Amino acid sequence: MTITYKDAQGIAGMRIAGKLAAEVLDYLQPFIVPGATTNEIDRLAHVYMTEVQGCIAAPLNYTGGGNKPYPKSICTSINHQVCHGIPNDKPLKRGDILNVDITVIKDGWHGDTSRMFLVGEASIAAKRLCAITYEAMWHGIKMVKPGAHLGDIGFAIQQFAEGQGFSVVREFCGHGIGQGFHEEPQVLHYGRPGTLEKLVEGMTFTIEPMINAGRKEIKEGPEKDGWTIVTKDHSLSAQWEHTVLVTPTGYEVLTLSAGGPAIPAFAAAKT
Ligand code: MF3
Ligand code: CO
Ligand code: CO
Repeated sequence: MTITYKDAQGIAGMRIAGKLAAEVLDYLQPFIVPGATTNEIDRLAHVYMTEVQGCIAAPLNYTGGGNKPYPKSICTSINHQVCHGIPNDKPLKRGDILNVDITVIKDGWHGDTSRMFLVGEASIAAKRLCAITYEAMWHGIKMVKPGAHLGDIGFAIQQFAEGQGFSVVREFCGHGIGQGFHEEPQVLHYGRPGTLEKLVEGMTFTIEPMINAGRKEIKEGPEKDGWTIVTKDHSLSAQWEHTVLVTPTGYEVLTLSAGGPAIPAFAAAKT
């Protein structure tokens, strides 16, 4: 597959899909409490996406990467789980940190976004990891403009995250997105400035750094479900994800909504 450049109609479709994906996270927030199960959250999300929003849940039965079909409508990754955790019947505990990753399809266009949620009161260390990972994502987003390189995004994220004493997962990356869930290019969350693909107006892709409190290495989870990924050293891992559009002058984040966290000051000062 090659990079797709969105025209006005594609951009309009991506704006709608992006906002709807973010609004699923807004809707789920009050349900993410101690005692709730990720299966309950999956069900709520599925019904909201399909019945209220008129969307398709992109993860359900997704086989990307030659994997076996993904069995649920959302991904829920807890604590040392890095990504692609499958919802189950285990109750969330106070102090857990949970990534919920939502991808909707609306009128053929994909919107992909994830956030970290603190279950009840989390530790200082867990809160710091979630906050730094959120900032790391925005350091990457801030680099987006025509003529910049993908390597600029990866470098900004890596510099910041490692500067805070954390590590960047290498095996999973952001991705082009549009009428396909995972399109080219790959958007690495580490790298060197001025390297890799040049950004062009009309590109849409995700930035979704996975940041570990300990070492960067990952492995398949003990569930052996073909999807769940965990940190090798069992340290906590966090991830945030936005879908962005390259505009003539910079970027537009397509997965913003009323209930999301504030944009960091260093990124909000966009002209
Ligand atoms: N939403 C994930 C991403 O950000 C992909 C999940 S694939 C699934 O790319 F099948 F696990 F849902
Ligand atoms: Co994604
Ligand atoms: Co996602």
